[in-house]
Amino acid sequence: MNILVTGGAGFIGSNFIYYELAAHEDKVICLDLLTYAGNISTLSTAMQNEKFKFIKGDITDRVFVYDLFKREKPDIVVNFAAESHVDRSIETPEIFLQTNIIGTGVLLDACRKYGIKRYHQVSTDEVYGDLPLDRPDLFFTEDTPLRTSSPYSASKAAADLLVQAYHRTYGLPVSISRCSNNYGPYHFPEKLIPLMIINALNDKQLPIYGTGRNVRDWLYVEDHCQAIDLIVRKGQEGEIYNVGGHNEKTNLQVVEMILKYLHKPYELIKFVTDRPGHDRRYAINPAKINDELDWQPKTRFNEGMKKTIKWYLAHRDWWQKIIDGSYKDYYAKMYEDK
Ligand code: NAD
Ligand code: TYD
Repeated sequence: MNILVTGGAGFIGSNFIYYELAAHEDKVICLDLLTYAGNISTLSTAMQNEKFKFIKGDITDRVFVYDLFKREKPDIVVNFAAESHVDRSIETPEIFLQTNIIGTGVLLDACRKYGIKRYHQVSTDEVYGDLPLDRPDLFFTEDTPLRTSSPYSASKAAADLLVQAYHRTYGLPVSISRCSNNYGPYHFPEKLIPLMIINALNDKQLPIYGTGRNVRDWLYVEDHCQAIDLIVRKGQEGEIYNVGGHNEKTNLQVVEMILKYLHKPYELIKFVTDRPGHDRRYAINPAKINDELDWQPKTRFNEGMKKTIKWYLAHRDWWQKIIDGSYKDYYAKMYEDK
């Protein structure tokens, strides 16, 4: 089979490509625009694999995407390509609408035109909005209403609705996964965990938004990749699967864990102005994927965090180039007045 992975030069997409190349004999084609978040060096090992091919291009470019489908004839499409950072969506929402909504629409049209076995949309638990901090009994299920908070999550929810509409109206064989926060290798340093690891290593302040009591449900990236692989191959058409491992932590707990592991002082923490509209708590009920596909996360948080921190220690060249480049201007703009 031919698997087209869009957004495969980013964090989760690249981990998924390595997962697929190791687990199956299928051919993997990566389509990625290499935006600020895409990194071709992440795929250098995959480039040496004859089952792998990289194509640079934009999922919103209809002519280009149709031509690619005609040539490469993908059987399965897994769409990771997206603008993915909430803070950036608050600064500049337009690009989120363009990539996340229009781009998804173009891919769906290409699937209709050329035919595929499965289109899989990599979505997020953020489409459900947030949960109150004083109700630990509440969790997101696949039936929780969509109630988005940020331009990012709104654009992801809109894309999910399009995917469902193409299933209902055109009978397109689709599936959707909604996962909680991921962490692991190749995570772009603008996101909480890599940002805090790198700042701590450089003895820079660790900017925690608001009180640090907001809760995220963390999952090691390889567990997410395995879940997507299962859904694409064994999950039911037209279905949504929530993915998560009941691993809720406050942001402060996560940051303290990083400081402890790196033997850095608590005084590096700086509480800064909160994110507008900041979602309080995300928490997934993964019963459906547990029951139907027998999926369970394999990596415990302590072990996953150790692996992740070790990875950042061993791959300074990967992230140093990022923090020395145009990301430097982003960091100055976003954090200097906080
Ligand atoms: P990322 O920002 O690290 O990677 C996104 C990739 O998409 C980059 O390689 C970028 O170059 C590419 N891209 C952007 N616009 C493109 C376009 N127009 N055409 C082609 N490629 C384009 O994101 P990520 O964290 O790996 O997230 C991947 C997907 O998973 C996203 O759809 C996101 O919504 C979803 N998700 C992420 C998390 C998380 O914790 N990171 C959790 C749940 C779901
Ligand atoms: P993030 O990694 O941006 O993921 P998301 O907002 O999509 O869940 O942020 C995770 C949590 O960490 C979120 O509650 C915001 C918080 N955060 C900080 O406190 N400081 C930071 O510098 C960043 C980037 C995030």
